[in-house]
Amino acid sequence: MATVSVRITPAKDAIVSQQVFDECVTVPASDASGAVSPVAASAGVRRNVLDMFSLDGKVAVITAGARGLGYSMAEGLCAAGLSGIAIIDLQCDLGERACEQLYLQFGVDAKFYRLDVRDDAAVQGAMDSVVRDLGRIDIVILSAGVADIVHAEEYSPEKFHRVIDINLNGSFFCAQAAGKLMIAAGRGGSIIFVGSMSGSIVNWPNPQCAYNSSKAGVIHLMKSLSAEWAKHRIRCNSISPGYMDTPLNTVFEEGYFHEWKSRTPMGRLGQPEELAGCALWLASDASSFCTGSDILIDGGYTVL
Ligand SMILES: NC(=O)c1ccc[n+]([C@@H]2O[C@H](COP(=O)([O-])OP(=O)(O)OC[C@H]3O[C@@H](n4cnc5c(N)ncnc54)[C@H](O)[C@@H]3O)[C@@H](O)[C@H]2O)c1
Repeated sequence: MATVSVRITPAKDAIVSQQVFDECVTVPASDASGAVSPVAASAGVRRNVLDMFSLDGKVAVITAGARGLGYSMAEGLCAAGLSGIAIIDLQCDLGERACEQLYLQFGVDAKFYRLDVRDDAAVQGAMDSVVRDLGRIDIVILSAGVADIVHAEEYSPEKFHRVIDINLNGSFFCAQAAGKLMIAAGRGGSIIFVGSMSGSIVNWPNPQCAYNSSKAGVIHLMKSLSAEWAKHRIRCNSISPGYMDTPLNTVFEEGYFHEWKSRTPMGRLGQPEELAGCALWLASDASSFCTGSDILIDGGYTVL
């Protein structure tokens, strides 16, 4: 935890020794919620804004962290001083490799957990294992998600269920399991949902009603939990990307890409690392008064 030195200045008429006059004490710069601590505040201390981005000693869990946006956000958090990171994914080889890479690059204790986020019974066990292995959970990023292109009149119940089960229900199971542990630990925390601009607009011309509905659900789930868990100092926010350059979009044919770029004012897809700064801001004390917010990062797509 960041600290500041505060010079003790006794009241005018207090009888004190010279030693006390000269004494400097070190106090925590902020309390558990990220606000400047009362002692520091009464001494007129304001935190350096860059210090507020520090994740020193914290532990993060990232679902779908093996590749794509989840991996890029993992890199962003590790660079800010995490002590441990749990990568959750379905793909073992990719997940193990991601952990090796994070350890080599940042020296962070990185552990892989194979988990299907739809498996509600297994989700709590995985989160419990993270606390057993890495000591605590302070930050959760819920990035597990799949996309589909099926015309609404042709959607089978199985296909529709799959998208909702992974994107929406899986996000809830993971948030709930981690939230319970955060509440029990009493230290607060930050939960970052990965929504999509598809949760606010209907992408055109893509036939993807299940995906759009799932992401609208994710954003409203995030808002609901932010209200319920504010009293536990657990902040919930979401990042809603526009079109990003990741394997998720390989389900779409080339013609779609041209259409997407022409409908995006910046004229291109986003790169995965362009979310990392926002993830770090939301994970850290730099966003300590931010909860219930959905942050669109879409190259301007939704302004048109
Ligand atoms: N790429 C985009 O254009 C874009 C845009 C907006 C939102 N998003 C959202 O961002 C998130 C990440 O997308 P991405 O582009 O990195 O995708 P990606 O396909 O590159 O990676 C997704 C990862 O999720 C894992 N996964 C899939 N189903 C899972 C399950 N049931 N349990 C655990 N892990 C599972 C996969 O193994 C994969 O490693 C998704 O929620 C997606 O909807 C992506």
